[in-house]
Amino acid sequence: MRENASSTVESPSVLYRDGKITFEGIWTASARMRKCLDAAGKMAALPMDLLILGETGTGKNLIAAAIHNASPRAEGPFVEVNTGAIPQTLAEDALFGHEPEAFTEARTKRRGCFEQAHGGTLFLDEIGNMTADVQAKILTAVERKRIRRLGGENEVQCDVRLVCATKCDVRKAIAAGAFRDDLYYRIAGHEIRVPPLRERREDIPLLAERFIALDNVNYGRSVERASEACMAAMLDHPWPGNVRELRRRIGSAVALCEGAELLPAHVFPETASESDAAAGGEKQGLSLAAAERNHMEKVLALTGWNISEAARLLDITRQTLRTKISAYGLRRPTT
Ligand SMILES: Nc1ncnc2c1ncn2[C@@H]1O[C@H](COP(=O)(O)OP(=O)(O)OP(=O)(O)O)[C@@H](O)[C@H]1O
Ligand SMILES: [Mg+2]
Repeated sequence: MRENASSTVESPSVLYRDGKITFEGIWTASARMRKCLDAAGKMAALPMDLLILGETGTGKNLIAAAIHNASPRAEGPFVEVNTGAIPQTLAEDALFGHEPEAFTEARTKRRGCFEQAHGGTLFLDEIGNMTADVQAKILTAVERKRIRRLGGENEVQCDVRLVCATKCDVRKAIAAGAFRDDLYYRIAGHEIRVPPLRERREDIPLLAERFIALDNVNYGRSVERASEACMAAMLDHPWPGNVRELRRRIGSAVALCEGAELLPAHVFPETASESDAAAGGEKQGLSLAAAERNHMEKVLALTGWNISEAARLLDITRQTLRTKISAYGLRRPTT
């Protein structure tokens, strides 16, 4: 069964295993993110509903698709619905479909997302934006494995695995009555918390390097790296839009860059004016990650890049040192 792929709410996008969104395609150099992905990978194999929590742009959609593709339902459909974008009056219709003549505009039968996802995974993004009533209906449908189309008399069998995601604080949303506690308790035992990029800064050099490579192809450029100053600025930036923001900034930086190195002004054009640069300059290099990178650079220079000696001085294992060297994009100077 192959559904029509489209970005409209009426026909939610349906991704298949050939879409190749797998855990290997979610890049990370962070031990914390690796733990989160490993846990998600384990849960993927089990028949439980899941809740993915994380700020905007942290990779919740990617993880949901990877869970589906790593699950025993991988051959079935993956139906993704941005429930936050559906007007509440249309939510039931979008989720459960309708029979002909169910309401004035309904001329033909329509299958809702639940039916489309039968045998596969239904990914409900921004679940916190649905009314409590619709959330309750979602819960009933998942528990009974049956739905009734609007205007329908008979129930239709509908076996879906539910993966929900939200960037809101669920506990606060429950307290405010915006999130049903019964739905939460069905999925809450299996929460996947995706850390924001500012709490896994080791990912910045890795993701930047890979996005540069992708955008060199996209824009016909030959950028080799981010300059030291640019990397320091990226390690310091708070990244409120997380990986999506990094992806977007690197994209326009590579498109703008004509040389081999990305400069701070390419990635942060808004701080490129002289006065802003001066003000920003004072605040650069203050993050823990930037300090760690600088310190490692000093120790490596001091030991002539003798890994064993540097690891001993830093009081970490050689393996950890190698991982950090690669994560921070440190390079042995050529003599
Ligand atoms: N670890 C990663 N490796 C590669 N690309 C990533 C990674 N994390 C996120 N991305 C990319 O960043 C962008 C945002 O990811 P995604 O849409 O999954 O975030 P989200 O948490 O669902 O955001 P929102 O809450 O706004 O819906 C996408 O282009 C995605 O491919
Ligand atoms: Mg999303």
